[in-house]
Amino acid sequence: MTKPREEWSSRLGVILAVAGSAVGLGNFLRFPGNAAQNGGGAFMIPYFIALLVLGIPICWLEWAMARRGGLAGYNSCPGVFGVIWRHRASKYFGSLGLLIPLVIYMYYVYVEGWCLGYCYLYLAMPGSFAACGRDPAQFSAYFREFVGQNSDGLMFDGRPHISVIFWLIVFTINFLLIYRGLSKGIESFCKYAMPAMAVCAIIVLIRVLTLGTPDPSKPDQNVINGLGFMWNPDMEKLKDFNTWLAAAGQIFFSLSVGFGVIINYASYLKRNDDLVLSGLTATSTNEFFEVCLGGLITIPAAFVFLGATGIAGSINSTFSLGFHTLPVVFAYMPFGRLFGFLWFFMLFLAAITSSLSMLQPVAAFIEEAFSIGRHAAVVILGTLTGAGGLFVIYFSNGLKAVDAIDFWVGTLAIFVLSMIQVFIFIFAYGVDRGLADAHDGAHIRIPRVFYFVIKYVTPTYLIVIFVGWCTQAMPVRVFGEPLYQLVPALQPLWARVFGSAPPVDKVPALIDGGVELYSVIMIVAAMAILLGMIFLAGKHWKRFGPEPTQIPLPGGFPTAQMERRAR
Ligand code: ALA
Repeated sequence: MTKPREEWSSRLGVILAVAGSAVGLGNFLRFPGNAAQNGGGAFMIPYFIALLVLGIPICWLEWAMARRGGLAGYNSCPGVFGVIWRHRASKYFGSLGLLIPLVIYMYYVYVEGWCLGYCYLYLAMPGSFAACGRDPAQFSAYFREFVGQNSDGLMFDGRPHISVIFWLIVFTINFLLIYRGLSKGIESFCKYAMPAMAVCAIIVLIRVLTLGTPDPSKPDQNVINGLGFMWNPDMEKLKDFNTWLAAAGQIFFSLSVGFGVIINYASYLKRNDDLVLSGLTATSTNEFFEVCLGGLITIPAAFVFLGATGIAGSINSTFSLGFHTLPVVFAYMPFGRLFGFLWFFMLFLAAITSSLSMLQPVAAFIEEAFSIGRHAAVVILGTLTGAGGLFVIYFSNGLKAVDAIDFWVGTLAIFVLSMIQVFIFIFAYGVDRGLADAHDGAHIRIPRVFYFVIKYVTPTYLIVIFVGWCTQAMPVRVFGEPLYQLVPALQPLWARVFGSAPPVDKVPALIDGGVELYSVIMIVAAMAILLGMIFLAGKHWKRFGPEPTQIPLPGGFPTAQMERRAR
């Protein structure tokens, strides 16, 4: 802790870095698929409710806790939790703030490699897609070949595969930027990448919105109907609990809230830096990219050329949607190669500004936990994420490892960390005190209604959704469809009565074993390593100075409420 403290060099820089972390593949690939599947325009009702009662309030409380922790000398989630919640166990709860970015990085950077790979194909290998013509099935086959989707281990068959080569390239770029440090690496890169991304996205958007009816023999496949396909509300979907879960999950993933990222990024703020307006600006920027750009490009464009039936099969695969459908769209467009390049370049920029934000929290933890330099931290982090990346690349069949990790960590763990943060903020920091701190240096005031929202609405909403999740979605994920999984003897009977096989569960069940189980074992192993490191960090912190739990803080910390409880 004798190292000079890292800081952002400007207010715009921190906003762009946080917005860069938020705007990512989630905005352009995950959001459109989620909205189209969950009621189109109707999805926006739970989506905006989740933004107001979860996204914005949790974002502010993360910024406030993080700045507090950073001023006490801690930049990692375990350290920040220790500063706010003065209990020996608090740092272990912070392990989730390391696990989430670490494990999501393992698959996210692979998808990032696909984006750069496709970008390269459009720019430098004009004939790459020639054999596909305009046939969606051919483009899908091309993509499956590209990522080795037809069988596990295909990417390690001794031949150099383009997706693995680009994985290595983006992996290296990420680490070079992280090695350069917070301000020179992340902040400088985001200052250029964010405007470049906006320009590319707006050019593609204008092209999509001016497509009209490209094939007069199919008058229904026009832009207006494409927008209708995406946005026409299906109110029935609001009765389905899964729609509400999907909306809340999308807000967390997209804003990088409950991700362990903001709790690290905002810890580099100075005492009187504004955080209320900055947090809101980063959130609004993310929403602009998600709703105005992501929501208007991916699905309407695919609809115009492929029609409703053409895109139906691709919607449910989260990250591959844009790789199956958009190349078909570009094959129809005049200057399709240019637009293909711009689209995948934009996706690459969106992805890298997010993946960088997943490395920084763990790098910061390793540095502060063991008082080692960035060089050693980068080597340790590179080894862990490299091993995880190889796991994901090996289990390429049906991209099951990507989907499994995205569910267990990218959805479930984010939810749990958000709940932990909200409870620490309410019971350890104190809402009034925490929000008063948040106003230090603030350029705007948090509306009074948010005091009520954070105290009552946010935790209630989180608990209701979590309980619903545990009772509805989790059992299927763990056990599969009960009838199908638990009563196998019924299967032949079912087949005889109904003339077909019983419905197989749509998601892989944990008890089936296979990749789903291996992925969970991999996640548990990563968690064990992190908990071990936090244990060692605790010993180190004790030996070399006060632990985060003992740092005296200005302003009469700990709260009176905590002191009462301690007595
Ligand atoms: N927030 C990032 C995204 O949307 C992770 O992709």
